[in-house]
Amino acid sequence: MNKSFSLTRRTAVRLIGGATAATLAPFPMNAAEKESDAILRRAIPSTGENIPAIGLGTWQVFDVSEAPNERGPLKEVVTRFVQLGGKVIDSSPMYGRAEGVIGDLLSELHLREKLFLATKVWTSGKRAGIESMERSLARMKTKRLDLMQVHNLVDVDTQFATMRAWKEEGRVRYLGITHYVDSAFPEVEKIMRREQLDFLQINYSIIDRKAEERILPLARERGVAVLINRPFASGDLFARVRAKPLPEWAAEFDCKTWAQFLLKWILAHDAVTCTIPATANVKHLEDNMAAGLGKLPDEKARQRMVDYVAQL
Ligand SMILES: NC(=O)c1ccc[n+]([C@@H]2O[C@H](COP(=O)([O-])OP(=O)(O)OC[C@H]3O[C@@H](n4cnc5c(N)ncnc54)[C@H](OP(=O)(O)O)[C@@H]3O)[C@@H](O)[C@H]2O)c1
Repeated sequence: MNKSFSLTRRTAVRLIGGATAATLAPFPMNAAEKESDAILRRAIPSTGENIPAIGLGTWQVFDVSEAPNERGPLKEVVTRFVQLGGKVIDSSPMYGRAEGVIGDLLSELHLREKLFLATKVWTSGKRAGIESMERSLARMKTKRLDLMQVHNLVDVDTQFATMRAWKEEGRVRYLGITHYVDSAFPEVEKIMRREQLDFLQINYSIIDRKAEERILPLARERGVAVLINRPFASGDLFARVRAKPLPEWAAEFDCKTWAQFLLKWILAHDAVTCTIPATANVKHLEDNMAAGLGKLPDEKARQRMVDYVAQL
């Protein structure tokens, strides 16, 4: 695909598909309407493909043994995730056994085709990068990954060259980069300007808002889909809010819990395509998925949310 076509398509998707996809579906009107149909979906700008806006992270929580007491809860989490309309699962060869656990569970549950699998390459050198990506395919028990990302920008130019070739060959569908700390944003910005990325994965939360200054507007401008990692600041946010009351006005945007409050705040940013909270607990998963239902806060409400959390 030549660049001008790609840009034209991105613009068209933003103007047409993006706007429609960013509109929230209502709560199910009756019991017959499945919860999975109601979840908020957003368009990937480079193709217009829609994905559900709540995904699933796997750092630490999926790095488990084969023991039934460790695998059992994750089997429940993955099953329920798909039942509730979830699709995007994010992993990395850096997450210990996580890729293999996902591969085992998806093959046991016959769910590969229902999921959008994202993983990463986190090594230096062309040969090592290829071997790492081959291992990811084998561990995740799939012939094609939906998204391959350069983890924390490690040897980004070398890995991107291979990833582009893999995309041509159909072994990966989308390409991206990731980082998780604000100090990397200047480098992230440079790469976003020189590469036509399909995806950027970055940190953003109600107590870590730096990405909204330059990175998120640039993603919007360049037609890059955005995955948000660390939506709960890797869990730290719960220590801050857990014992505090959820404000009554959170009901105005269909929010019943702190997890929904924190996730809806992220999803209300229009450059965000999907956020990937990690959990090994099915009740937490259900709570997180509910953030993809109902209304989102408007700009005024978002600021009120920031102020409320800041004084806790
Ligand atoms: N450089 C990178 O590429 C990079 C860096 C960081 C993260 N990531 C990706 O982004 C994902 C998310 O980030 P993260 O794992 O750092 O942190 P996070 O999603 O902000 O927080 C995860 C923590 O929150 C807890 N939690 C989740 N839902 C909850 C709920 N409803 N109520 C109470 N507690 C809840 C989880 O524990 P429970 O298991 O008890 O629910 C877990 O300890 C990662 O898993 C990974 O896939 C990528």
